[in-house]
Amino acid sequence: MLFITLLVISAILLTIYKFFIKDRHYWKKRNIPEVQGITWKFITGKKSLAEIHKEIYNSYPEDDNIGLYNGPKPALIIKNLENIQAVLLGDFQSFFNRGINTNQNDKLADSVLFMEDYERWRIVRYKISPVFTMKKLKNMFYIMERCARDFIDFIENNQEAMSKPFNALYTYTTASITASVFGIDANTENTMDSPFIDMASKATAPSFITNLKFSLASTFPKLFKLLKLKFFGDQESYFINIVKQVLKERRRDNDKRHDFIDTCIELQNEGVMQNVATGYQLIPSDELMAAQAFFFFIAGSDTSAHSMLFVLLELSGNPEILKRLHKEIDDVFEKCNEKITVDDIEELKYMDMVINEAFRKYPTIGTIQRKCTKTTTLPVGEVKIEKDVQIIIPTYAIHRDEKYYPNPDLFDPERFSPKNISNIPKYGYLPFGEGNRICIGARFARLQIKVGLAWLLRRYTLKEQVYEPKCFEPSFFALRDTGARIDLIPRKA
Ligand code: HEM
Repeated sequence: MLFITLLVISAILLTIYKFFIKDRHYWKKRNIPEVQGITWKFITGKKSLAEIHKEIYNSYPEDDNIGLYNGPKPALIIKNLENIQAVLLGDFQSFFNRGINTNQNDKLADSVLFMEDYERWRIVRYKISPVFTMKKLKNMFYIMERCARDFIDFIENNQEAMSKPFNALYTYTTASITASVFGIDANTENTMDSPFIDMASKATAPSFITNLKFSLASTFPKLFKLLKLKFFGDQESYFINIVKQVLKERRRDNDKRHDFIDTCIELQNEGVMQNVATGYQLIPSDELMAAQAFFFFIAGSDTSAHSMLFVLLELSGNPEILKRLHKEIDDVFEKCNEKITVDDIEELKYMDMVINEAFRKYPTIGTIQRKCTKTTTLPVGEVKIEKDVQIIIPTYAIHRDEKYYPNPDLFDPERFSPKNISNIPKYGYLPFGEGNRICIGARFARLQIKVGLAWLLRRYTLKEQVYEPKCFEPSFFALRDTGARIDLIPRKA
């Protein structure tokens, strides 16, 4: 009995030591400034993690590295762009992991491209990347363009739609992803009637519970595993069953639509996915394909809708920029007689500048995270990073740093003009991340945003207003402002 009591006491003391004492003042001991209590501030507060990271970034103007703690775990905000390059690309072998753990029973989350298992990620990324080549996107463009037109009808026939602009834009981006994943055919009456809008919204909207899950998954992975917590448990069987059903019908009908389901069938026909160098094998099961498709909704709906919203909000406050953009859009639409192709969309160069500047001022993924998997040293300052330390790349703070972007709160698309674009610092512009784990859907997102905005601004203008948000919503990765208002005014024919 005495032995068991001693054993239990030792286990408790060991746990207390491990979680609350061992890494206390981890950074101070290494002569790096440190900030305490961030996880708690985030979970109980009203700000996004990206804003909290920006406040810390600005509080230490002289320091390249600032230590903090994700729960009890040491994490480091890094500012130096060469070090950021090393983490995202040069020293990828030490930083391939994002440090967000998933459980094997969480069928969707555990198989999506965000995954932590290096071998599995590498082979899935390699096989899925061709979905987003320009050639494939050009084939898919007819789907996106149709969605953009349906979106305009949706607004025109639904007076209330734009009273909640984020919801309307979310309807468009989710519908466009739905159509690009599952295709459209002659029977599709209105692409805006996507059955997945609710599903995607429930899975992505931040809440106390989802923030807690993310925090737990990255700070107490063992507890997270022990509790068998799932990120997307509610959506699992519904979504997997739909994908299975669609795959079955498509195989039977041999119907080609240039959508993601086509790619899934091609991959499945090729058989087991194999890395010839390592011999690692993975079966392209229906579940694996469903997880990828599911993640396109999670990664692409909210981010793209918010990016469109931020563009529109800034255009409302900058009538000269709006006027120039309208002129560019009108010229292109008149030239092609209102039948826009992907080449017409590519001609909208000023729109690219406007969108790039909105991505800079409001990077919808405001903070990027990595976990060190092999002890290493950052090249500038020779800071030793031990295994399991988390690295935080504070995208939002960098994008608003005066050093890189003079007058950073000013919305100025000229920063991205052909003359000025070379001033954008390497690894200082990260709306889609960088390096080997850069967003796989960046090209898709840009095209979807451009065609949606082109049609919207062809038909509407915006009531003038100034957008100055006090803070964004308390999200783990994202910058969100779902309550922001814009007023659309129909343009004269
Ligand atoms: C404006 C819209 C979007 C933004 C701002 C955005 C941004 C990002 C960022 C910052 C990352 C993390 C990069 C890193 O950790 O280095 C990421 C990853 C990812 N995104 Fe996007 N994204 C957008 C749209 C999309 C779309 C439409 C899709 C798919 C259809 C997509 C699929 C992914 C995937 C699969 C990953 C994980 C890649 C990997 O780990 O290999 N994203 N995205």
